[in-house]
Amino acid sequence: MNSQQSLHLWYESNKRDLPWRKTHNPYLIWLSEIILQQTRVNQGLPYFLKFSQKYPQIELLACAPEDEVLKLWQGLGYYSRGRNMLKSAQDIVSNHAGKFPDNYSDLLKLKGIGPYTAAAIASFAFNEPIAVLDGNVFRVLSRFYLISEPINTGFAKKLFSELANEFLNKENPATHNQAMMELGALICTPKKPACVDCPLQSNCLAFMQGTQVQYPVKLAKVKPKNRYIAYFHFQFNSQIAVFRRPKGGIWEGLYDLPYIESEELMESSDRIKQAIDKKWISSHEEIEMVFEKSTY
Ligand code: ADE
Ligand code: SF4
Repeated sequence: MNSQQSLHLWYESNKRDLPWRKTHNPYLIWLSEIILQQTRVNQGLPYFLKFSQKYPQIELLACAPEDEVLKLWQGLGYYSRGRNMLKSAQDIVSNHAGKFPDNYSDLLKLKGIGPYTAAAIASFAFNEPIAVLDGNVFRVLSRFYLISEPINTGFAKKLFSELANEFLNKENPATHNQAMMELGALICTPKKPACVDCPLQSNCLAFMQGTQVQYPVKLAKVKPKNRYIAYFHFQFNSQIAVFRRPKGGIWEGLYDLPYIESEELMESSDRIKQAIDKKWISSHEEIEMVFEKSTY
């Protein structure tokens, strides 16, 4: 039995019973995916039930007043998602005659539908052989194939998308995609993957090495740094002090006013102290005078 078959068998006997897995209706699948963006399954489930009961067809959602939709959305957070969902429903009803686009590339053209959602709808509703790539799938694939490429780069997206589509069971893409996400959610979890219960274990490269938890590799996000720059305006009669910016930095060789940079906001008195240390000025009295003189 190959890995795809083991995965399929595992899924059939371990999957959670979720309502959007029992339908091929692209509208309901779309609804579930929108609700599940940034929302856990347990938390999203009651909302899916409420929405699908109140608006069983896309036309009904499209006609709903925004207030009513937002009231139902209450508690899910990110109200813009609720608003955009209504707008997309209206768009589909008025510009596509209520017919949901039935393939990946047409789905991608809809506002608010990116590669993940388009692949989810195309495969779950229309069984199109296209792999979904969400956080769960990235994790499973990075471990299974031992991919050290950091997953948060454009290059990795392409690489993982190729791997995911290679691994995809083309005979049954809908179930395969659900199974990959379910495996990531239930077994191949971020901190303590339950490899003993995993249907992919015998071919999983990270498991063989015992390095599962080191995957996926993520590039540390460069934290935005605050830079506080205090410029000095030194005026001597009609002349203003400038300096030429050094080699290597931004604006190399251009003229600039003298400045002092710090990572924290500085008190004026500390800035003046630094200016004195740099011998730009010789005393507090002088700087006060300079400030007094610069009256424009
Ligand atoms: N999260 C996002 N889509 C999902 C799906 N179809 N099943 C379970 N969890 C999901
Ligand atoms: Fe993930 Fe472990 Fe399964 Fe490999 S064997 S896919 S690390 S759960």
